[in-house]
This record gives sequence, structure tokens and C-alpha cells, in this order.
Amino acid sequence: MKICIVGAGALGSLFGGLLARAGASVSLYNPSNVAHVQAIHSAGLHIERDAESWHVAVPATATPEALAEADLVGLFVKAHQTARAMEQIAPTLSPRSWVLSLQNGIGMESEILRFVPAERFLRGVTAQGATLLAPGRVRWAGVGPTRLGRWRGPLTPEIEEILALLRRAQIETEYSEEIERLLWEKLIINCAINPLTALFDQPNGSIVHDPELREIAGTVAREVLRVAQAHGVKLSEAEAVERVETVACKTAQNISSMLQDVRRGRPTEIDYINGAVVRGGRRLGIATPINLLLVKLIAAGRMLKHPATSPLAPPLKREGDSPSL
Ligand code: PAF
Repeated sequence: MKICIVGAGALGSLFGGLLARAGASVSLYNPSNVAHVQAIHSAGLHIERDAESWHVAVPATATPEALAEADLVGLFVKAHQTARAMEQIAPTLSPRSWVLSLQNGIGMESEILRFVPAERFLRGVTAQGATLLAPGRVRWAGVGPTRLGRWRGPLTPEIEEILALLRRAQIETEYSEEIERLLWEKLIINCAINPLTALFDQPNGSIVHDPELREIAGTVAREVLRVAQAHGVKLSEAEAVERVETVACKTAQNISSMLQDVRRGRPTEIDYINGAVVRGGRRLGIATPINLLLVKLIAAGRMLKHPATSPLAPPLKREGDSPSL
């Protein structure tokens, strides 16, 4: 099976590197980090975990024309980069290709489904953690389950083969019939941790160590839960808050993906995280004022820091006006 990892940053490179280490035919694609691609091209990918490290020879490219047809595309780009990435890799897709998205957030699926039939689309969440240490060097920062399911249709032998491939690569993977529920459960965590750590420039542990942030995160989690319940989530309020706090504790030293984006002056995934909750709440008639406030605060922060280079952060508008919501 030929695998193409699209968006080979930290997590994508980790998945691609582990699959290649297990003998799979993998190529990495990352058009926005040319230094990383060049380092892998000339000296291979270096993966580190605690005292262990592995060196994996794996092809890497920054140009989509260099990609061969893939049986499985692993999509790891940021949510807002999905449409562009799918357009770029469209020539590598055949009617038999599978696309697997383990991206944060909700709402980019419609962009993927413009290019892939729902029957060939796998969506999932992962608790694996990775950090890009330097070009060509990735730290395997956390080990946890990956859960994925088919967007439409039952489990097939071909999907079993993909699951077996991931497991052979030491990526603990489970199949789920309830992928929408899993996406919303993960969204509760991202909605509570990501914008607060990004706004206050704090590592994830601040969500439990700072009493004020802990209270706000709990309020966010409870508000998201009300929308998530309409998507199959069966957690109680206490369980939802506990999940957020457990992840914040387990990843206390981590810099959330949204804070990393803010620090690098890049657009964030806020529209696909808290923004997805605001949109979902509007459809269901559930008020989500705290999530809307977080969307606006992240957008305002970006506008203030990068007024000239902020095409994805339009000027603040009155509620209901924003095209992104
Ligand atoms: O987006 C992130 O940073 C991660 O999904 C999480 C779980 C918040 C840990 O940092």
C-alpha cells in the first residue's frame, strides 16, 4: 500500500516515520516547511522518544507534482489549509484511494468530500503527541490511542488492512462506528484548552493550576457539551470537565497547537474549534456566548498583532455578520 502523508509537520512526520519504520511505502509532503523537507531528503527523519531514537529513510517533497498516486492519504494539515491541500493532491487520488483525516476541529470534512467519496473517507482522532525539534527531527512527545471510523459504510477488509498497518507501526489504533461522537468529545477538550492557553500564552497545565482559568475552562466545556450532546456525546457535565482537566494535567508542559500558531504569527484553527460550536449551537438554537467570545478574542489578538498580514481575520463584526460563523 502506497501512503502519502500530506502536511508532514510534527504529527504527520511522526505517523509517516513510524509507518516507514514498519516497512510501509511512505512519502511525506509539506509545501510550507521546505527546510524540514530538505533535511529529511538529505539525512532522513530522526524520531526521538525519551532515551530512544530512530532514524528513518523516507522520501519527502515540497512540490505536489513530485507525488505518486497513493492508496492511502494521511491528512495532517491545519483545518483551514484543507481545501488548498486537497486541490494540490487531487491528481494523486484514484477512485480506490482512501483519505484518512486525524485533524483537530470539525467542519473541514466538506472540503475533503469535494474530492473523495464518503465511502473512501476515514475520519479520526488521535492522542499521539509530537513536537518538531528542528528540521528533520521530531520528538514523539506522547503516546495514546488513535480512533478512526468510516464516514459512510461498514468496516471492510481493506480498512482492516489499514488498521493492521497502523498497529504494526506501533500506533495503537481502534475502529469506531461512532466517529462523530469521538470528534465532539475531542472538540470539548480543544475548545477549553486551546484558546485559553493561546490568549494567556500559557502551557496546557495552566488550565488546572490557575484557579481563574480552571473555572473559565469548565464553563467552556459545559457550554460545548450542550451542543455536543446533540451529536451523540453522553458525558455528564462533571465528566466533560474532568476530561479537559485530565488532558491538561497529562500534557501540562505542552504548548497547545493554537498557542504555537499564535506565537509563530500563523492563522489558528479557532473557526474549526470554538467556531464549530458556535455554528452548531446556532443550528440547534443553543446559545454559545462564551465560545463566540473566544472566537472573537483570538481574531482580535491576531488583528492587533498582524494588522497588515491577516487576511483570515476579518475586522470584527456584529454577531451574525461574520462569514466564518
Ligand atoms: O491541539 C492541541 O494542542 C492538542 O489537541 C491538545 C489535546 C490540546 C494538547 O495540546
